[in-house]
This record gives sequence, structure tokens and C-alpha cells, in this order.
Amino acid sequence: MTTEKPRRLTLGALLHGSGGHIAGWRHPLSPPDGQLDLAHHVRIAQTLERGTFDALFIADVVAIWGHDLDSLKRTARADHFEPLTLLAALSTVTERIGLVATATTTYNEPFHIARKFASLDHLSGGRAGWNVVTSVVPLEAGNFGRDTHLEHTSRYRRAEEFVHVVRALWDSFADGSVTRDQASGLYYDPAGLRPARHAGEHFTVRGPLNISRPPQGNPVLFQAGSSETGKDFAARHGEVVFTAQTSLEGAQAFYTDLKTRAAAHGRRGGEVLVWPVLTPYVASTEREARARLDELQDLVHDDVARRLVQDNIGDLDLTGYPLDGPVPEIGATNRSRSRQDLLLDLARRENLTIRQLALRFATVGSVVGTPATVADHIESWFRRRVADGFNISFPYLPGSAEDFVDQVVPELRRRGLFRAEYEESTLRGHLGLPRPAGRPFTPSELSEPSVSPVSPVSSRVDAEAGTR
Ligand SMILES: Cc1cc2nc3c(=O)[nH]c(=O)nc-3n(C[C@H](O)[C@H](O)[C@H](O)COP(=O)(O)O)c2cc1C
Repeated sequence: MTTEKPRRLTLGALLHGSGGHIAGWRHPLSPPDGQLDLAHHVRIAQTLERGTFDALFIADVVAIWGHDLDSLKRTARADHFEPLTLLAALSTVTERIGLVATATTTYNEPFHIARKFASLDHLSGGRAGWNVVTSVVPLEAGNFGRDTHLEHTSRYRRAEEFVHVVRALWDSFADGSVTRDQASGLYYDPAGLRPARHAGEHFTVRGPLNISRPPQGNPVLFQAGSSETGKDFAARHGEVVFTAQTSLEGAQAFYTDLKTRAAAHGRRGGEVLVWPVLTPYVASTEREARARLDELQDLVHDDVARRLVQDNIGDLDLTGYPLDGPVPEIGATNRSRSRQDLLLDLARRENLTIRQLALRFATVGSVVGTPATVADHIESWFRRRVADGFNISFPYLPGSAEDFVDQVVPELRRRGLFRAEYEESTLRGHLGLPRPAGRPFTPSELSEPSVSPVSPVSSRVDAEAGTR
């Protein structure tokens, strides 16, 4: 019988070049060219590793996020590295921290994604993670030959099949089959090589993958679904699940719901970690910390505030609505439902104007105060089982990451909540996640024809279905 290991606090960091706050790039201590400065990213990654973070994570949208230049020209959103490329570079200057990149299942092919993440896992010695998203931004469609964004349910059906194929490809070589035996001249044992031979609703992939099994078996799967469909998907596949929450009650409900769904899929609590987003504004006094937040909020331009609400709330044109007036009602859209619900709910609950909603949205998940205040929040959410860890979003960089590592991390260690040094070398090891055993192995010929089409969502991989 397997017993669960004791729960341990885990921490990830969102790495945005110029910081998580929409006006972070304007902060006097943010380097203006930080978005594309490798040395700046290296400094942040090494700071986080000094703070023994489990992982750093890079969000991504495969488009310029928005079309309103009045607003866009005032943000750093249109200028950022492709995540896997950046993480490959960071893998060479870090040793332990996990490296998590976002990649969409809506506008990629499984073979490309399996190959790239397997490569990152090998390059980094088992530190890769994949944040599986279905694309939150409809504008991405125009970059991939589509007039409209794939509809929400269809995106998740595609994602389901996508993940299934990627996993099969990662298992192309059985563990131990790549022997690279110079004496005998045998690089790998062909008996350990399996094609994926997948034929499904969205993909036909023969395989096998042209790289041996990743050190972690599978890079760790991150997910952030929040709709009913999204949470089901996260509960089946996510090993770390991000969530943006505005209240303790909401976060508690999400945590319980997700763990219950995961259990229904036969997964134990420790195999699915829930990480709410937390944005810390830390200083030695509460007053000073509040001043840090206000300083950034004052840098949010009117055009940016209006668009922040409009782009996240759904298909609604806010042009002409007074910024200091109420948020209008809207119907259902094809946008991210959870984000829309979150915003509308906030506006109604707190009777917010458009500007106030924008500024609240810019600070969702913020905790403002001394290192002890921030540590109290982390400790209480962790102990009350509202969070297994946190996805920390630093408002501006590198300053707020350095403040957190120098002031909050020691406090967490002092309380016995967080590791003082790394004990493991892989991301799975840090997170206490099991290494997937891989598909049961059945030898087969590469030249065999593909299997016939399979059921739409849970399309099969032949080796998984048994022998041939
Ligand atoms: C912390 C966090 C990070 C996210 N990062 C991305 C991202 O990089 N790219 C993306 O398209 N969506 C991202 N999302 C959106 C989610 O993948 C998801 O689409 C969203 O939470 C809505 O849930 P739903 O898809 O179930 O409607 C993120 C969400 C959260 C909470």
C-alpha cells in the first residue's frame, strides 16, 4: 500500500520580464529593456533559485494581446520571448529550479510539443514543466489560418486528444532501451521503441518521437482550467493547477472541488497540487508596502484601464462608457468564462466603476504588507488546505522578487514551512510527484499501418489498448 508523503509548501514564480503588474515596466527600478534582456532574466532566475523556488513559469499568448494600439502602445505585452527558447537559455545558468513553459494545444501539433518539452527536460536534467492551455485569447486564431477562435468545448476536446498523443510520444522509447553501447555499436535496443500509431478526431500521428524518454518520464503538467470543462480537464491531467482567486471562500471552494474531481479519476490529493496566484507587495511596514502598490497603480493610464476590463470581460465595447461610471451588463461569450465571471462578480459585489475594476483586476490575488503579513497569508492558506503552494507574480522585476526571496522566504523557512535547500534535482522531485511508469511495452514494427479512427475525445494509442 502506498502512503502519502507529508504535505509540503511548494512555490512557483511567474516570470514576466517587466513584472506582473500591467504598469510594472514603467516602475523606476524596472529596466526599460527588461522584456528582451537575457541578463535581466538570468538575474531573476538565479534569485528565485537562491530562494529555493520549485519552479519558474512563463505565461504565453501566441499573438499580440489586443488590437487597440491606444492601450497596447502603453504596455510591454507586445514584446516578449517565446517561452521554450528562453527556458532553454535559462537551463544553462540554473541547476535546480523547475522550468515551466506555456504552450497551447489549440495552435500547435502534438509532435512539436512532445519533442520540445522532451528536449527541455533533457537539457535541464529533468526540470521541465508544460502549462497546457487551450488559448485564452481569441486573437490567436488569425495567426493560424482561422477566422474565428475555436469554440470553448471544442478547444478542450482537442486538448484532451493532444495531451494523450504527447504522452504516448514521450513514451516512444522504453526506459533503459537507449543504451548507447559504444563497444557493441548498438545505440538503442529496437525492441524498446514504440510508434504512437494514433488516429483520432484531430490528429493522426505515427511516431515514435525522435528523442529518448524525458528524464522525468513526462515533464510535469500544469493547467489552469476554471470552467466546468476546464476543471474536469485539470482534474484528469493537471499535476499543478493554477487558479486566480479573489477571496478565501472562492479559493477554498476551488480547492475542494478540484481535489474531489481528481479523486473521482483515481488520483490522490498529493498528485494534484493547487496553486493560487499571489502577488506580494512587501516592505518593512504596512504603510510602505501600500505605497509600493499605489505607486504602480498610479502608473496605469486611462486607456490601459479601460482595455484591461474590456479585453478580459468579453465581447463588449467599452468605448464611450465613462471610466468612473458603472460596469455594464453583458451576456455569455466565447471568452474565458471563469475570467469573465470573476470580473463581473467582483464589479457587482463591490459596486465598482470601470476604473476601479481595472485597478482591482490589476491586483487580483495581492497581499500587501510586511514579510510576516505575507508569510501569515501563505501559512494560513496552506494549513487550511486552500492552497498547496502559490504561483507568485512579482509586480515589477527584479526588485519585488529580490524583496520576496530576501524577506519572505527566510520567514517561511523560520516557520518550518519551506525548504532551506533543495533536496531533489528534478521538478517532480521538488513537488513530490511520482515519475510516470510509462506505457506497458509491446514490441511492434515501425512500418505497420496506423490503426483506424478511434473515439473522439479519449482516442486511444494502440500500445495502451493492449497487444497487437
Ligand atoms: C495563473 C494563470 C496563468 C495562465 N496562463 C495562461 C497562458 O499563459 N496562456 C493562456 O492562453 N491562458 C492562460 N491562463 C488561462 C487558463 O489556461 C484558462 O484558460 C483560464 O483559467 C480559463 O479557464 P477555462 O479555459 O476553463 O475557461 C492562465 C490562467 C491562470 C490562472
